[in-house]
This record gives sequence, C-alpha cells and structure tokens, in this order.
Amino acid sequence: MDQERLLRELTEFLRIPSVSTLPAHNQDCRAAAEWVAAELRRLGCRDVEFLGSDTHPVVSGKGPDVPGAPTLLIYGHYDVQPPDPLNEWTRPPFEPAVSDGKIYARGSADDKGQVFCLLKAIAASPRPPVNFRFLIEGEEEYGSKVLFDLLKREPQRVRADVALVADMSYVAPGWPAVYTTLRGLCYAEITVRTSKTDLHSGEYGGAAPNAHEELARLLGRIKGADGKINIPGFYGPVKRPSKAELAAWKKLPFNEKDFLQKRVQAKALVGLKKYSVLERLWALPTFEIHGILGGFTGEGAKTVIPAAATAKVSMRLVPNQKLAEVERQLAAAVKRFAPKHVTASVRFLHGADPAQIKVDHPAFQLLGRAFKEVTGRATVPARAGGSIPVVPALASAGAPVILTGIGLPDDRLHAPNEKLDLKQLWDGIEVFRRFYELVGSLESGVRSRENL
Ligand code: BES
Ligand code: MN
Ligand code: MN
Repeated sequence: MDQERLLRELTEFLRIPSVSTLPAHNQDCRAAAEWVAAELRRLGCRDVEFLGSDTHPVVSGKGPDVPGAPTLLIYGHYDVQPPDPLNEWTRPPFEPAVSDGKIYARGSADDKGQVFCLLKAIAASPRPPVNFRFLIEGEEEYGSKVLFDLLKREPQRVRADVALVADMSYVAPGWPAVYTTLRGLCYAEITVRTSKTDLHSGEYGGAAPNAHEELARLLGRIKGADGKINIPGFYGPVKRPSKAELAAWKKLPFNEKDFLQKRVQAKALVGLKKYSVLERLWALPTFEIHGILGGFTGEGAKTVIPAAATAKVSMRLVPNQKLAEVERQLAAAVKRFAPKHVTASVRFLHGADPAQIKVDHPAFQLLGRAFKEVTGRATVPARAGGSIPVVPALASAGAPVILTGIGLPDDRLHAPNEKLDLKQLWDGIEVFRRFYELVGSLESGVRSRENL
C-alpha cells in the first residue's frame, strides 16, 4: 500500500469543511460530494449521480458489472458535525495533521476516514468479484432528509444482497464489533415565552415571570435528578436485553471506572443507577439538553428579565420506541408540565427510528473472518448508543445490514480533536478488501431471494 499517497488523498477529503447543519457550508458539502464522485469514477463506476439536492446530494454509483456475482451496497456519509469549540482544537479542524500515528481532523473517524477505507479497499487489487452499489450521503448529521425522500421515490436504490455500513468503532482497541442495535433520535427545540418583551429586572423583578426560570423548571420536570425521564408513556415499549445478552456484555473489555476516568473524564457517572453503564448507554432511552438560548449571554452584565427562552434537546430511542410516538409524547408532556401562565411550544428538527439487526446471515461470519485474519480477532456483537437515521429503511429493504466500523472508542466524534489512528485505517482497508473478496464467494443460495 502506498501509504503516503493514501494519506495525501485522505487529507484532501478531510480539508473540505462539509458541515451539513450550517447553510454557510453548503458549497463545501457540494465539494465533498464531488470528491466522492471523482473517487467512484476512478474506481470505474458507472452511473455516478448526484441525487436529491444540489448542495447535499446523495452520491450514487454502480461498480463494474460482474455477472452472477452478489450485490453489495455500501453506505457512508461525507458530511460532518460543526467543529466548535474551535479554541479547544490543538490544530485547526480542517487542516488535517498527523501526529503520534493518528490523523487529527473533523470527520477523520466520523465518517470520511471510514468512507475512504471502504473505497480504497476496492482499489486494492485484484478487483473483488462483487457488484458494488454506493449511496454516500451528505446529510447524515442532520437527519438524512434528502436520502429518505430519495428512497421514498426510488426504493430500488437499496436493493442488494448485503449492505455494509462502516460508521462506528471497535468496542475497545483490538476488539472489532458488529452492532445489533442503533438508538434512534428525536431532536427538538422547546420554547417558553412569559411576556411580550424583556423587562427591567428592578422594575419588574419579584412579580414578573422569567422565561429562563420557567424553562429550567420545565426541563427539570421532564427529567429528574435521579436520571428518570418523566414523559408519560416514554418507557412503555422499552424492553430489557435478555439475560444472555447482559451476560455477554460482562465479558466485553469495558470497565465502568475506566470509562469514567479515561473517557468521560468527569467526577461521577449519572443516570439510572440500577442498570449497568452499558445498559444505560446501549439499551435505555435518554433525554439530553444540548444548549439553551435567550436572555442576556453577552459580555458584561445586563439586568433584564428574559421574555423567551429556548432549549435544544434530544432523546435517544431504543428498539420498539417509535419516533412519531415519542414526538407526540414530548409535545404532550411539555403542555402538561408548563404552568398556565407561560406559552410553551415544541418544534421538531429531525429524528430517526431505532434499528435492530439480526446478525445471523452468513455475511456477518465473513466480516468476522476478515477481521480475524487481519487483526487477530473476529467481531463481537455489541449495541451502539448513536444513531444512523437511514438504517431502519435499509434493513426493511430485506438485505442484511452489517453495522461495523474501524474507529476506536476514544476518537472524540463530534468533539474537539477528533482523530483516527492510522493503524486502524490501514487495517481497515485490509479488512474490507478481504471482506469484499469473501462476499464475492457467497453462494447464490444464501443470498436473500427477493433481492436477486
Ligand atoms: N457515526 C455516528 C453514529 C454512531 C456514533 C453510531 C457512535 C454508533 C456509535 C453518526 O454520524 C452520528 O453521529 N449520527 C447522529 C445522527 C443524528 C444527528 C440524526 C447522532 O447519532 O447524533
Ligand atoms: Mn457517522
Ligand atoms: Mn456523527
């Protein structure tokens, strides 16, 4: 492998600030799409198309036809999360830098570095006997609306024998994983208004309602100090993992104390204390406040009673919870918990249903084998706390969806100084190269019949 050339090429991709949630970066998202399209053409793909949007297109393509060979759908995303807070980065987020055997940049692990692996593994000769299909989207970090709309119009786009999604990490260094669930997501803004305009806190303080205070109380009612979410009906569909699954998690190299000290780096863990930390991260829903807007937050001091306040919040959902139902539950809870004298409203920004994947198709074995040959250990089944909105739609199309990844748990996704270990990158290319080869040997009998 020409590692120097590959690093140069990855650096080019990572330099593009394709932040999908910020309109100021629309042209950059487009540029990242162009980068992907050029790569696909270099791989000899035909029908390389931009679908669904000019600024955040889904990049679609088909590999060279290999008659009789299985079809493998490759999914990934070229968009990234905003890089702020910028002053916490050691190097600027879009000026990739290698240090200590790691490449530092926004998107290095999530997901550009992994898309890079998936594509470069194809270029590694000899060409695997597989019919490749690609869907690389540019709005994953903002709810995948473009891709959802596309699949509604053209569901045949996901027809395949196997789908491969590499947008996750190992469970621990040396421990590659295949994921059996993803959490869903419901992202919302809760706004509280208490008066027509802001008021002087001396003239009115003591008698006028304060929007921030009301919002804080409302949020406190939704989730208590014990970590319990008090939205009526919220936990109804939640099922505990089986005893066997919980027992299997105990054998994973995960230590609650290390997780607190090395990864969270806080003074204590919180949440529902009667469940293990892994169960809280993987099998229970959450309610998180991402930010609170309104009132006076500028430099210096201003004595004002804010008339309005907005919280950006999201809930992670677990299998059997439904996004649409949770939206209704949150809206009803806000109405119920807000006192009569405030106007409270909820605006939903985006979301995703949770996903549950059976990992019994032979293709999962092949992935395990590829990892075993390259890294010395096969994949272990695990669950993921994060979300990938399109996965339930991929899964319902019939082909087995393989959720895996080449990152490590300390890659700092969405946070300052995101990185990817180069060893993970080189191994990843080898793993997927071997996986493609093995998929090429899948007998037609084991392919799902409706997809042939
Ligand atoms: N790659 C992540 C999803 C992920 C992260 C899965 C860690 C498992 C473990 C993905 O890019 C992501 O961040 N998704 C968003 C989706 C949302 C914005 C709709 C997420 O989970 O916050
Ligand atoms: Mn991702
Ligand atoms: Mn992400």
